[in-house]
Amino acid sequence: MNEIMQNILTRRSVRAFRPDQVKDEDLEQILQAGLYAPSAMNRQTWQFTVVQGEDHLQTLTKAMQKALNNPNYNFYQPPTLILVSNVRENGNAFADTGCAMENMFLAAHSLGLATVWINQLKDTCDLPEVRRVLDGFGVPASHIVCATVALGYAKEPLPAARERVGVVKYVR
Ligand SMILES: Cc1cc2nc3c(=O)[nH]c(=O)nc-3n(C[C@H](O)[C@H](O)[C@H](O)COP(=O)(O)O)c2cc1C
Repeated sequence: MNEIMQNILTRRSVRAFRPDQVKDEDLEQILQAGLYAPSAMNRQTWQFTVVQGEDHLQTLTKAMQKALNNPNYNFYQPPTLILVSNVRENGNAFADTGCAMENMFLAAHSLGLATVWINQLKDTCDLPEVRRVLDGFGVPASHIVCATVALGYAKEPLPAARERVGVVKYVR
């Protein structure tokens, strides 16, 4: 099996992160992987907003706790979040986001970093308490946050993925 296949088959979602920050050179590569994902009609109308630093992460977390009425919500406390936003009228925003997300997940995994998709901002990004924070981060008002990458080093080794069975059909 080649290295790319190996990387795809061993990636897992991680929900417990060490506090140490991702190296900038690794972050740049992960973002580049996202930027080079396909997008419908090659529109590339997305924005990747990197959120780091305890103050910024806490500000967003507190707004989300309020929005979700859940004082324990914490994005799994990674040292870095990448918000993937896109213009709300783009009917392919979520498909484009999916491509960018998986590219970033695989790039991160290849660099020994861990990720998980965080979904909640897509439903809360237009609530006033959350939008105020997004405005402060420079997410355009015309954008919705389609998905978020939680990024950091895994606290524990990744378990092997379960084998996939019964979902491929051949018609030949
Ligand atoms: C569209 C989408 C939304 C997801 N949202 C969340 C989420 O909000 N929180 C979370 O912990 N995992 C989330 N996940 C991760 C999935 O739970 C995970 O990919 C799945 O359980 C398979 O595990 P694996 O990634 O380790 O193979 C999401 C994944 C996708 C594709």
